[in-house]
Amino acid sequence: MEIKVVQDAKSIEADILVVNQFEGEKTSNELANTYAIEQDNFKGKFGETYLLPTYGKEVYKKVLVLGLGKKEEFNPNKMREAVAKAIKKAMQMEAKKVSFLLDGIEFDYSEQFTMGAYIADYTFDKYKSEKKDNKVQEVYVQANADIVKKAEKIAEAMAFARNLANEPAQFATPSELASIACDLGLETIVYNREECEKMGMGAFLAVARGSSQEPKFIHMKYQVDNPKKKIAIIGKGITFDSGGLDIKPPSSMLTMKDDMSAAACVLGVMSIIREFHPQVEVHGIIAACENMPGCSAYKPGDILTAKNGKTIEVDNTDAEGRLTLADALCYACELGVDEVIDLATLTGACMVALGTNASGIMGNDETLIKNLIDTAERNGERFWQLPLWDEYFDSLKSDVADMKNTGSRWGGASTAGVFLQKFVKDVKWAHIDIAGTAFLDKPQKEFIKGATGAGVRTLLNYILEQ
Ligand code: BES
Ligand code: MN
Ligand code: ZN
Repeated sequence: MEIKVVQDAKSIEADILVVNQFEGEKTSNELANTYAIEQDNFKGKFGETYLLPTYGKEVYKKVLVLGLGKKEEFNPNKMREAVAKAIKKAMQMEAKKVSFLLDGIEFDYSEQFTMGAYIADYTFDKYKSEKKDNKVQEVYVQANADIVKKAEKIAEAMAFARNLANEPAQFATPSELASIACDLGLETIVYNREECEKMGMGAFLAVARGSSQEPKFIHMKYQVDNPKKKIAIIGKGITFDSGGLDIKPPSSMLTMKDDMSAAACVLGVMSIIREFHPQVEVHGIIAACENMPGCSAYKPGDILTAKNGKTIEVDNTDAEGRLTLADALCYACELGVDEVIDLATLTGACMVALGTNASGIMGNDETLIKNLIDTAERNGERFWQLPLWDEYFDSLKSDVADMKNTGSRWGGASTAGVFLQKFVKDVKWAHIDIAGTAFLDKPQKEFIKGATGAGVRTLLNYILEQ
């Protein structure tokens, strides 16, 4: 899809001209006003659409009236969703050229328009032998060309992340993630099993032991002279989470190829970062491995030593993400960065607490957390802060080691958070649990089912705002 900025959308020979309608109001198109609104009483409720033929009397073949709901309730976030509705409709109709005549919207919608259109135009059909030719090719709209360009790049990074997270675990292996990272044109180091051993990453390596796939610890660097700030972003990279010896039931395992969604997010961000030239140093870090119950698998009761020397009693092999992140956090804290932000499909508990529209955020610095929440909100994602009170550590106390990797069922997202905190030293840190938001089991707003690219928009915008 390509978005073309034009002055006069109705002069385009499009398959569809989309015109917007606020609830109970007229549109700027006579056909829509006469036939949809006056004759057929179309109301323009949010997300509703009405299709009209033009019988060759106009340069565009059809008019799609797009309901935006009550004008006073309309906002930038709704813009993305509304545009997505129109694009989805166009895809159903296999329309290739779609022009938008937008009128009466009281904010600069360029960014939301672009994101909504690209998110909706996404399909994952590379393994279908018969592919539907339903993508929209050209979109015409009056908008700010610079903002459209910027949003296009962010949308591209999101699609990159979605493709990776949708990729089956048989292909998206730790080695594959490493080779993708190496192809991004950044300075990248990949540590293999032996090198991780030398660095003392006993927690990460324990998780990897049950799989025949070699673990890869990936470190990508975007560097500039005199950076304003140094940030490390870490993405959980479990390429498949079977649960290990504490094996998951089939229904819970079904989507566990998505347990590297956060790694996909970090790769997505790093894939595009150079094009924006931000004056910020950014480190992208992924501890990639599979959690499998092979004959060398780590076992409940094992005691692991993380990179910082802390010992962990394995209480449940399915709480593997925090073990891999423990070593990744230690590694990131040694880089001398100002901020460490980790993302992870970490806990079912976070999904239970917040659902599939919001990610949980925790950390040790209220300003960092608040800034990330604000950036998310402005860019169509939702982060909600969860507490990291000391009491959550009570259930992680171990009789034989410094801590266990799981404790009580209750407050699972925060328990995971306080566990991670034990591996954070002298740095501002935020942890984002994307278990609920990274992978959808049914369509939601602009998204089809499957990977959403959670975190990409927020992280990129956060970096660009520094
Ligand atoms: N990858 C899962 C978390 C998850 C669950 C992500 C559902 C996406 C959707 C994680 O490794 C896990 O298994 N967590 C356990 C932790 C438990 C053993 C303390 C969980 O949430 O059940
Ligand atoms: Mn698990
Ligand atoms: Zn997991």
